[in-house]
Amino acid sequence: LMACMTPRDLAGKRVMVTAGPTREPLDPVRFLSNPSSGKMGYALARAAEYRGADVTLISGPVHLPAPFNVHTVSVRTAREMAAAAFEHMASADIIIKTAAVADYRPKETSDHKIKKGEGDKILELERNADILMGIGQRKEGRILVGFAAETQNLRENALGKLERKNLDMIVGNIVGQPDSGFGSDTNRVSLFFRDGTREALEPMPKDAVANIILDRVAGLMT
Ligand code: CTP
Ligand code: CA
Repeated sequence: LMACMTPRDLAGKRVMVTAGPTREPLDPVRFLSNPSSGKMGYALARAAEYRGADVTLISGPVHLPAPFNVHTVSVRTAREMAAAAFEHMASADIIIKTAAVADYRPKETSDHKIKKGEGDKILELERNADILMGIGQRKEGRILVGFAAETQNLRENALGKLERKNLDMIVGNIVGQPDSGFGSDTNRVSLFFRDGTREALEPMPKDAVANIILDRVAGLMT
């Protein structure tokens, strides 16, 4: 009876996960984005549901099936993701932000396809608001987990984000390597906590990483 072995340790908890990239349109057929696959966030949503949580997944454009029994909200831009995240955070006990939010959007979006003949341009960008920072400022009793995608200085950068964004835990991820990060089915991460402790995990499937993250989240709640 496998059902008896299912750890329902998140029963009654409401979990919000954000996942995937955002797309910032330049015109109707072009956008700025990044290669986030959404796999880590979807693995977390599936694992949390399996462990009994009531899960909302706010997802940028990805090529993954909507997880079973998870309330999935599809968004495209960072501003749409922010609106959905701020709406749903009110009814969340645990918030995990894996999304690779575009830091900038084009200052102007053309309503028609930009033609070569329009001449060379300098693309003007403006900053997207930091969604996680906004959530951190009004987190109250919620458990807040962020991700830090880095190509260098993982510890220093991750600890800076943990502090600045008022997180309980940050998952530091060296990206741009074959066994880790964008697009991969496996991930090599380190978990950083507020008490200064660090837990370096071996490379492992994203489903396994998701369950360890949820183990630590469950630990923070007791
Ligand atoms: N994040 C967010 N909103 C943004 C940018 C990032 O919510 N506009 C969140 C991500 O979902 C992630 C965390 O912040 O959980 C860290 O994202 P990351 O890109 O690593 O850090 P930044 O703070 O954007 O800093 P930088 O890109 O300069 O390293
Ligand atoms: Ca960023």
